[in-house]
Parts: sequence; structure tokens; C-alpha cells
Amino acid sequence: DDARLIDRFGRSGTDLRISLTDRCNLRCTYCMPAEGLPFLAPPSLMSIDEITRFARIAVTEFGVRQVRFTGGEPLLRKDLVEIIRAVAALEPRPEISMTTNAIGLSSRAEALAEAGLDRINVSLDSIEPETFAKITRRPFLSRVLAGIDAVGAAGLVSTKINAVLMPGINDDQAVELLEWALAGGHQLRFIEQMPLDADHVWNRDSMITADGIRERLSVRYLLSPDEAPRDGAPAELFQVRERTAGPAGPMLGLVGIIASVSEPFCSDCRRTRLTAEGAVRSCLFSHTETDLLGPLRDGADDREIADLWRGAMWAKPSGHNMNSAGFEQPDRPMSAIGG
Ligand code: GTP
Ligand code: 5AD
Ligand code: SF4
Repeated sequence: DDARLIDRFGRSGTDLRISLTDRCNLRCTYCMPAEGLPFLAPPSLMSIDEITRFARIAVTEFGVRQVRFTGGEPLLRKDLVEIIRAVAALEPRPEISMTTNAIGLSSRAEALAEAGLDRINVSLDSIEPETFAKITRRPFLSRVLAGIDAVGAAGLVSTKINAVLMPGINDDQAVELLEWALAGGHQLRFIEQMPLDADHVWNRDSMITADGIRERLSVRYLLSPDEAPRDGAPAELFQVRERTAGPAGPMLGLVGIIASVSEPFCSDCRRTRLTAEGAVRSCLFSHTETDLLGPLRDGADDREIADLWRGAMWAKPSGHNMNSAGFEQPDRPMSAIGG
């Protein structure tokens, strides 16, 4: 029915991703320039009431069932626990997750879980302190690891780890990272780097593709496709076994590969995004955004907001088009768009 967030290609936006801030305490090379960006002034960010109102419209008008908080770094929001509590009070209650760098999580994991956070995905590209510092331009690996440990202790349902692989930087650590994740019971997903870096230095020829990821892992592990339906998820999942144990050996866990560039999953995309300043972004790679926060602050009612949102999603592009000649990288990097 047309109450949902449908687009011209028959997809429906059922997963809402809300960016809570464009700031971050890391400076990952593939996401932000060393000097940072001209960050939004606090009054331009959505307030807790504004976030809750948008989430309520999504849940009640569009049938959204999953809300994920992203950034920038969502833990930099002082009111994060209150935001989660307010969204968890919506009916029907959406599943609530967060994508974070885990810095500062150790002291807040329990409060977040208690407020209603269900799942957490942590971005971590290396467990070698020097490589971590090189990629993020900050020496904070031990804080991230402490944050990940706290998640387990707080009883959140799952921690997935996201790792972007880059040639000559951390691609030789793929096996080591997977070994670490399997030992900790985390689902690791390797991500192909996308052209969303602030410095616009992304280069297709130097990118580690899904094939390259599988090749690096095959030195030690056997991967076989997991049976579970993918359901529009960016990650394709594989069962992991020791190569030496063979295909009948014990399953050690799952590993995911997010092949946005070489094996795009746009045709089954179920995402709708709100930027930290309250604009709809129908796709990571859109060249337009549709402001909702301005109209909301000017007194628009829920129906008017919902209509603007539907209009924005109707215009969602069929895909990122990265693999065609006319592709142009969006001006704003991942941290500004919302991861
Ligand atoms: P769950 O599967 O629900 O745990 O979450 P997720 O994998 O959708 O969310 P997460 O924030 O952990 O995203 C992981 C990676 O998926 C991101 O770093 C991106 O590389 C990729 N990704 C997420 N959304 C999109 C999207 O709309 N388009 C593309 N191309 N990639 C995306
Ligand atoms: N390509 C792929 N993934 C990226 N992320 C940030 N920038 C990029 C990029 N250019 C990832 C982070 C984090 C998630 C929110 O997005 O690693 O896990
Ligand atoms: Fe921060 Fe995430 Fe961007 Fe790294 S990828 S700079 S952790 S927002």
C-alpha cells in the first residue's frame, strides 16, 4: 500500500538510519580529513524530541521496524540514553541498533542496554595498535577494545565488527582480525571501501574487492555460503572452518563480506536515512537531500512531514551507479551523510 516508503523501483524503506551527529573523535582516512570538517552548530542538529517525532512518523505511518543510530559518532551525543529510551517507547517498538567506534562505550553500555538498545555494530579495522592509529589518526585502540568487552558484559544481543580493508595498510591482517573476532564470538564483516572519503583519493584499482578478501582469508580458512536468507542485508555471510580441518570440520562462526562496489546490493535496498540536520537521504550516493527539520520547526504536521519524506524516497535512485562511466562521488563524506 502507498502508505509505505516506496520508490519507483518497487523497493520499500523499512530500515531507518538516523545520524545523531556529524562529529567524531576519530579521523579514519576513508571517512574524514585529518583536520576534521566544518561541523554543524548544535542548534542545527535534531533534538531528542525532533528525533522521536521523526521516528514515530516512520514507525506509525511507514511501518518501519528497525531504527539504527549512526553518525559521525553517536556516543558523542550526551543525550543518547534518553534518545534510545524515547524511541524504545514507540508503539510498535522498533528494534534499535547503533553503529559506533565504541570509544567511551565501556562506561555507558549498561545504561544503553537498559534504555532499550538491542544490538551494536562496532567499526574496527585493525587490532594492531600502530595500524589502528595510522587508519584512525588517533591512538585509541585500547579504548575501543574496552568498549567491545563492555558490550558483552551488558548483555546486548550481538556485536558485529565492521572492518574496511585497504591495500598495504591492513589487508595483510585479515586472517588475524578474523581469528580475533571468532575467539570473541563477534560476527566480523569485511567492507569494500567505497568512494565516500573526504579527500576523494578512492581508487577502484587499488581497492580490495570481495574476491580479494576471500583470497586473503583462504590462506587459513574455508568459507562456505551460509544458508540463512539475506533479507536485504548488505553483508553476504559465510560459514568459517579451518582449512586444515576440511569442509566437515567444526564451524567456527560466520564472517560477512559487504561488497558494495563489486557486488552491489542496491536492488534490494530497504534503507531510508536521516542526516544529523534532519534531511532525508534516500541513498548514500544521492546528490540531493530533502529537508524535514526546517518544515517541522516551521510547524508542519505529521502528514505534511510524511508526504515530504515519501516524495524524497519516491525519487530514490536505482543504485549507486559506481560502476558506470558518469559516476560522480558525493561531495560530503560518510561522516557527514551518516554511516
Ligand atoms: P545490520 O546488518 O542490521 O547489523 O546492520 P548494517 O550492516 O546494515 O549496518 P552497519 O551500519 O553496520 O553498516 C555496515 C556497512 O554496510 C557500512 O559500513 C557500509 O559499508 C554498508 N552499508 C550500509 N548501508 C549501506 C547502503 O545503503 N549502501 C551501501 N552501498 N552500503 C551500505
Ligand atoms: N567505505 C566503506 N565503509 C565506510 N565506512 C565509513 N566510510 C566508508 C567508506 N568510504 C564505514 C565505517 C563504519 C560504517 C558506519 O561505515 O567503517 O563501520
Ligand atoms: Fe568516525 Fe566512523 Fe568516520 Fe571513522 S568511519 S571517522 S569512526 S564516523
